[in-house]
Amino acid sequence: MKITLRLIVSLVFVVALVSAFFSFFQVDQAKTRMTRDLDRRSAILADSLQQSVASLGRSGLPEWLKQLVAKYERLDGVAVFDLSGNIVASTRQIGSRIPQPFPAAVKVILKKRSAGEFLDIDGKDIYVYALPLKTDGKITGAMALFNDAAYIDVRLREIWKDNLIRFLLYSFLSVLITVVVVKWSITGPIAQIAQWMVDVRTGKGRALQPAHYPRGDVLAPLVKEAANLAKSLSAARAKADQAAVRHFNTTSQWTARRLREHIRTELHGEKLIVVSNREPYMHARNGKNVECIVPAGGLVTALDPVLRICDGLWLAHGGGDADQETVDANDRVRVPPADPAYTLKRVWLSREEEKGYYYGFSNEGIWPLCHIAHTRPIFRLEDWICYQRVNAKFAEKLLQEIEGEKSPLILVQDYHLALLPLIIKAKRPDARIALFWHIPWPNPEAFGICPWREEILMGMLGADLIGFHIQFHCNNFLDTVDRFLESKTDWEQFSVTRSGHTALVKAFPISVSFDAVADSEISSSESSRLREQILLEMGFPVKYLGVGVDRIDYTKGIPERFKAIERFFEKYPEFIGEFTFIELGAPSRTHIKKYHDFMAEVEETADSVNWRFKTGTWKPILFLRAHHSHEEINRFYKAADLCMVTSLHDGMNLVAKEFVSVRHDEDGVLILSQFAGASRELSEALIVNPYDIEEMADAIHRSLLMDRREKRARMTRMRAEVRENNIYRWAGDLIAALARLRPLEGEHPEQTLASNPPGSPTRKDPA
Ligand code: G6P
Repeated sequence: MKITLRLIVSLVFVVALVSAFFSFFQVDQAKTRMTRDLDRRSAILADSLQQSVASLGRSGLPEWLKQLVAKYERLDGVAVFDLSGNIVASTRQIGSRIPQPFPAAVKVILKKRSAGEFLDIDGKDIYVYALPLKTDGKITGAMALFNDAAYIDVRLREIWKDNLIRFLLYSFLSVLITVVVVKWSITGPIAQIAQWMVDVRTGKGRALQPAHYPRGDVLAPLVKEAANLAKSLSAARAKADQAAVRHFNTTSQWTARRLREHIRTELHGEKLIVVSNREPYMHARNGKNVECIVPAGGLVTALDPVLRICDGLWLAHGGGDADQETVDANDRVRVPPADPAYTLKRVWLSREEEKGYYYGFSNEGIWPLCHIAHTRPIFRLEDWICYQRVNAKFAEKLLQEIEGEKSPLILVQDYHLALLPLIIKAKRPDARIALFWHIPWPNPEAFGICPWREEILMGMLGADLIGFHIQFHCNNFLDTVDRFLESKTDWEQFSVTRSGHTALVKAFPISVSFDAVADSEISSSESSRLREQILLEMGFPVKYLGVGVDRIDYTKGIPERFKAIERFFEKYPEFIGEFTFIELGAPSRTHIKKYHDFMAEVEETADSVNWRFKTGTWKPILFLRAHHSHEEINRFYKAADLCMVTSLHDGMNLVAKEFVSVRHDEDGVLILSQFAGASRELSEALIVNPYDIEEMADAIHRSLLMDRREKRARMTRMRAEVRENNIYRWAGDLIAALARLRPLEGEHPEQTLASNPPGSPTRKDPA
């Protein structure tokens, strides 16, 4: 039984008992009082009548006596008895209503004194007062007064009724007060304390005592003890978390689950926001249908798994022609469409903005500026103006999203948004901002070409953390800042301090999510099956397959690769008809003339090699110019004998890591450019200089002849490297580094904007 019910039942029972006791007492008193009163009145009346009736004979009562009786309220009648107790005279046929001899009369004659008693006469409650009649001192009979006593019962019943009503009222009030007091002072606070304890236990709440409880009350000692327990629990949990983190760091692999745990401990439920130009899911029209595609490129490949596990927000340019139709009223859509896990918020750009900011300044200016691929950067003032405007537009949308969020964590991606960190920091100094630069950072001389180099550097330095793929790019960046900006560069901490704000510069080698589940035996048979399938689709059976996967970009070294294949067939003609290289090329940035021309160059190079060596049933290069999904690409990775990544310059290149991560059969050879960031980690690949055609041709030859044991040994080591340094570690390290940074007291980055506007004296004149 619930405590409230128990209390109520007990209280009602006690109230009932007390009420009954007092009611009995009250009724008894009232009855005694009324009886005494009746007795007294009867005695007075009887006394006054005694003399007059003592001498009455059988003739009856005189008229005056009858009238007197009638006048007396409640007097029902009078009777006079002889010595035997038989009626001598009476009013209102008393004689016919009582037995004769009348016992009450006989009693008083015998006892010689008056007495009163209640009798039931004809169903009526009558109080009979009798007294002996004396003449000359001798008892001659008796007289009895018959009083109607029904009013006493009525009065007593009224007392019972009143007391019952009082009892019900007391009971109701007691129940009400009990319920209210119990709820306010006991069950309510206990429920709150219990909820607080559940929150503390499940990790949802971290308050060390409940928000509301009656202080200094009965529950105070309980709350005090519970608060001590909560403190101990939190300390133990923090210790366990730290121990788990240490344990993870030393013994276990980074997985999606581990990253989720890590984010939980690092972010304490704070929101993670990714901002980039390229969106992870793009809706595009295909005839009447709308298709959702995942754009090619390392940025999306790397960050999508991270956002999926922490249900964050990704703010990006909505570039698909059906993007507007697929968002809600707030420009949001949950993605991935098949299994929504996070929110994509789209930013709309006009055609002119896209032209100036994306195609112009970002991809004709900064992209070739940072990649040493011998393509001249083009800097136009109108593109720069657009670039600034679009960065401000992204900032405005981002500020709306973080309104009300305390110290939000923001991961800004890449060279399209170099100005964003400073704009945000000026408005929201509490925001923790990381800028990850996915492409290489050149040396100061190369970067110095940019007419707005100081503005770009200042914009980037608004971030708390600036990440590059490799240490070499961090060094180049610090060198560049040192050369062009008035600031304090700390080469030990790898940080830059400017106008009181410090930005940490650190290498975080990006990676892919490594799926280690597959079994090598099953994978080998899967690889053979896929190879058969692909050969069937190609229409010509070959002994060896090579694969290349790229956005068609002049930094990827695709013509160089094709030329190396040509040289390979020249040098090793025995492979003619035996080896085909499949290039999966996704068209990219085709509105830019350089890219448009480059596409033609790639096609021409492939054609010329094919023209030279093809037979009626075979050709050396199969150029599949299309956007391919990850599933499609994986088929080719798994079926190939070798994969070529021959970038002329690349921040990391995730194709290399993807190839390694899906080769569960531990077969296949990776030929990797020394100018791709990935070559620092994947040293078991055949590392080549993409400008050295001879070396690349030999690398193909070596790959095809490499014995199974060497291939397996190399692949096993590369897989261990990617497994260890996967995308979850990248995100975990980046988020931990950022989450642990706190905005410094007294730091006002807006001063940077106000006091150091573009072109201000804080620029250093390059030596
Ligand atoms: C590189 C860049 C990314 C970019 C990707 C695809 O990986 O670092 O920022 O998204 O290329 O290029 P796109 O211009 O199509 O976004």
